[in-house]
Amino acid sequence: MTAAPELLRATVLHTPRNPFQTADALDAYTDGAVVIADGRIAAVGDHATLAAAHPEALVRDWRGSAILPGFIDTHVHFPQTRIIGGLGRPLLDWLRLHALPEEARMGETGYARAVALEFVRALARHGTTTALVFGAHFAPAVEALFEAARAAGLRISSGLVLSDRLLPEPLRQTPEEAYRLSRELMARYHGRDGLRYAVTPRFALSASEALLEVCAALAGEQPGLLFQTHLNENRQEIVDVRAAFPWAPSYLAVYDRFGLAGPRSVFAHNLHGSDAELARLAESGAAVAHCPSSNAMLGSGIFSMRRHLAAGVRFALGTDVGAGIGFSVLKEALQCYMMQRVLPEGFPLSAAHLLYLATAAGAKALGLEEETGDFTPGKSADLVRLQPMEGAPLAAAVERAESPERLLAALIAQAGAESVREVRVRGRIIQDSGPRQVS
Ligand code: GUN
Ligand code: ZN
Repeated sequence: MTAAPELLRATVLHTPRNPFQTADALDAYTDGAVVIADGRIAAVGDHATLAAAHPEALVRDWRGSAILPGFIDTHVHFPQTRIIGGLGRPLLDWLRLHALPEEARMGETGYARAVALEFVRALARHGTTTALVFGAHFAPAVEALFEAARAAGLRISSGLVLSDRLLPEPLRQTPEEAYRLSRELMARYHGRDGLRYAVTPRFALSASEALLEVCAALAGEQPGLLFQTHLNENRQEIVDVRAAFPWAPSYLAVYDRFGLAGPRSVFAHNLHGSDAELARLAESGAAVAHCPSSNAMLGSGIFSMRRHLAAGVRFALGTDVGAGIGFSVLKEALQCYMMQRVLPEGFPLSAAHLLYLATAAGAKALGLEEETGDFTPGKSADLVRLQPMEGAPLAAAVERAESPERLLAALIAQAGAESVREVRVRGRIIQDSGPRQVS
């Protein structure tokens, strides 16, 4: 027997159209509703209309709250959950001094399990329902992540992080081990319970050609596999990649030579890509994970949104924890806005652009646009209920907002984890925080 549909009454905001292509991308219903049946969106619109059309539905009166699509994080490192906030270092020093020592601790499976649990809880508490996650260099730690994600009900893609040079020895695998261990994980998790496998070389600098060949073989093993890595993040990194692969005309060309740039590829950063690399990214259908807080924290550079748009390269947001500042994709959207504000040729982003980048753009980057990212009927009911804390300035701002755009902007600027009241994936509650008050 199927459960009765539910009607969630609140202000509903989503971007079923691309605001980089059309001026009316934001759909907003101030006294709105989402009807959910069998874990899917059955209808979205004005409350009065939907209440009349669905008299059988179980009504949840969430007035004073806003319902947004679940947030989508396209680049986040689970082993770096506990090292957010390392200041004062550029990428390669930060890796050596902050990230890699913590990543080595993932070799202890008990420790990795504890971090995996913290990680999935942090995602859910911040309203993230879907994420492409950099796993660990150790197979049992990646297993711990997949198990924690399954138990939490999150939609996670991840994989064993592969390296066979440059990094400290405990973080390296031989290409043969990389192949065997990745295949085992893939067989256990890919395509099950909303989990997918992503072939994950750390970056070209820590991969031999033999390892990149293994990645190519792995990526063809099963339909629907993803590929993720880093690209053009830091100027010294790029110089070092050029020295390591002297035959390659560009950083992207290293991956491309092995067939690793395609519609299922997500490259983090791409701050310093050439026009030829941008053209090739667009042609291949690959997506870029834009991680503005990490880019500022590590002093890596500022993302040229205009050049990506002009070249037709897809991009969405990544928090890049632990180089980034935390798990909130809304905060990442705000940081994205601020970086474009300070860049002389920055792109002027509206609240609708930011919501799109935090939701539907992420679904597209991960090949999930038929499934999640907005409230088009038929899609999975993946949503966040934002309820400002009683007595907080955000509560007053939401109550007084003159337009849906202003309301959305206030939420993006101010709604942190304390405002995430409930989170659902496939209609199922994965986070229920209860009402909170400013004391
Ligand atoms: N490049 C290679 N590894 C990493 C990492 O962990 N974080 C970031 N930001 N860049 C990387
Ligand atoms: Zn990263």
